[in-house]
Amino acid sequence: MNLKLISGSSNIKLASDIASLLGMPLTKNILKRFRDGEIYVQISENIRGDDVFVIQSVSNPVNDNLMELLIIIDALKRASAGRITAVIPYYGYARQDRKSDPREPITAKLVADLLSIAGASRVLVVDLHVPQIQGFFNIPVDEVSAIPLFAEYIKDLSINDPVVVAPDVGATKKARQLAKRLNNCPLAIIDKRRSAHNESDIYNIVGDVEGKTAIIFDDIIDTGNSIVKAVERLSQSTNEVYVLATHGVFSGNAIDILESSAAKQIIITDTIRLSQETKKIKVLSMAKFLSHVIINIHNDKSVSELFN
Ligand code: R5P
Repeated sequence: MNLKLISGSSNIKLASDIASLLGMPLTKNILKRFRDGEIYVQISENIRGDDVFVIQSVSNPVNDNLMELLIIIDALKRASAGRITAVIPYYGYARQDRKSDPREPITAKLVADLLSIAGASRVLVVDLHVPQIQGFFNIPVDEVSAIPLFAEYIKDLSINDPVVVAPDVGATKKARQLAKRLNNCPLAIIDKRRSAHNESDIYNIVGDVEGKTAIIFDDIIDTGNSIVKAVERLSQSTNEVYVLATHGVFSGNAIDILESSAAKQIIITDTIRLSQETKKIKVLSMAKFLSHVIINIHNDKSVSELFN
C-alpha cells in the first residue's frame, strides 16, 4: 500500500510539517462550505488501495472540525482507500468520558462510534484525557505522549531541585512518567475539586514542594483556571513554577491570564494550532515524533519502541 497524508483544516501547519519531514506532499483535497454551513469535501487524487493518514485535531471550532474529519473519512472510504488512520492530535470531547451526573451523555464514546461508522480503520491520538477512551473503540488505537518531548526540553534547562506536580489526582500517572524521565525526581499532587464546569478549587498539596522548582504537567489547558490557581498556590512555597501541557485549548482569555500568571514558562505542543508564541508560552512541535509514528504504523512496526 502507498502511504498518503491528507489534512483537514484544523491544523494544516502540523500536517504540512509532518509531510515535509516525511518528504512527501499532502494529498490534495477540496474543503468548502455551502452557504448554509454544510461542509463539502472532495479528494482530488486517486487513493484506491492506499494507506491514508488523515490529520485533524478536534479543536475549536470543535463541532465543525469533528464533522469535517468524519466527512473526509467517508470520502476516503467511498474512494476505496485501502486503510484509513484518523490522526487526531487533540481528541475533543475527551473530558466527557463518563456519566458523573444523572442523564448525562458519554460524548467521548459517541465520537469514537462516529469515527468507526465513518470508516476509520485505526486511530492515532496524543495524550488522551483518560486512557480508557482507547476502549471506546473496536479498532486499533495508538496513543502516544508528549512526555518524552517535554522531558528533553526540561532536561536542557538543567533545573535545580525539580519536583513534578500533578495538578489533580487524574494527572498523577502521567506526571509520574515525566518524573521518571527527569532522573526520578520527586512528585507532588494537588487535591483539586470542581464546583462547576470550567471552575476549580485547590484544597491541598500532597508532597514536599518547599523551596523546589515545580514542574506542573497537565494534559489540557482550557480556560487556564486550573493552572493559574495551581501556579498561585505553588508560588507561595516553591522557587519557580514551570507548566507543561500537551494541548493548549486556550478558551476565552486563557492566554492573557496565563501571561500575567507567576509561571516562569508555559510549554505546550502544536497538537492545537496557536497563532503565535507569546512571552511566556512556548510551543514544542510533535511533528517529528508523529512522522516517526506514522512511518512505523505504515510499516507494521512497533510504536512503543519509539518512546525509548
Ligand atoms: C482536567 O481534568 C484536565 O486535565 C485539565 O486540568 C482541565 O481540562 C483544564 O481546564 P481549565 O484550563 O479550564 O481549568
